[in-house]
Amino acid sequence: MNLADARSALRDARRVAVLTGAGISAESGIPTFRDAQQGLWARFKPEDLASPDAYFRDPALVWEWYAGRYRDVMAAQPNAGHDLLARLERQKEGGYFLATQNVDGLHARAGSEKLVELHGNLTTARCDVCSQVDDLPAPADFTPPPVCPRCGGRMRPNIVWFGEFLPEQALEAASDAFAAADVALIIGTSGMVYPAAGLAFETLERGGTVIEINPDETELTPRLSFSLRETASRGLAALMEG
Ligand code: APR
Repeated sequence: MNLADARSALRDARRVAVLTGAGISAESGIPTFRDAQQGLWARFKPEDLASPDAYFRDPALVWEWYAGRYRDVMAAQPNAGHDLLARLERQKEGGYFLATQNVDGLHARAGSEKLVELHGNLTTARCDVCSQVDDLPAPADFTPPPVCPRCGGRMRPNIVWFGEFLPEQALEAASDAFAAADVALIIGTSGMVYPAAGLAFETLERGGTVIEINPDETELTPRLSFSLRETASRGLAALMEG
């Protein structure tokens, strides 16, 4: 398959499913988890900041880490890649589904609506006691930990941590959408973290086309229909605006 074929496949597809990872937010300047671990944070292992054990041991430390990442995200803006996906959703009307591994909330801010956030969302918190989910206050007004508006309990970052399960309904919806897709796009993900990375195979196994957009080769590349070696925004523009 070449670019012209990929472009017509996307144009003609009645059902499109998209998976995004950290790469689509790179052009918004959002650091990956590992890139954000600079300075004082460099001495921690990821599991010391992003696991139920870490939160049990030292909730203030875990919240300090997430409050910093929340501030980074709120200072950033969605980029042309996020915008193009919101446009693709409007073009495909009902036949569109987006699953993201990102926790930065930028897809929703760009206007994507049929969206599941498989790894949670940095801009919300979840009550330890009653599971209520609520938006965090604006960064300038935010002193962690947030308190549940419903029951007064302490709230935790609404993130899927190491050792935790992905939200079951979100994963099932993604799996169904990838299985039904004529075309799937895999954008800006290294394809190493399962089960998200396995979504591409749901589409391939049922005869659909899977197109990757990533400047680098990934674990998934050898198995996909076509790979565009471009950044997310340039790759999407090449596919959608030809
Ligand atoms: N456009 C598109 N892709 C890009 C860009 C860009 N501008 N810049 C970098 N990339 C690609 C990289 O080549 C890499 O393949 O984005 C990918 C990012 O890979 P990871 O950092 O592994 O991010 P991701 O795949 O989202 O990780 C999955 O792992 O760290 C955990 O839970 C975290 O959700 C995350 C999950």
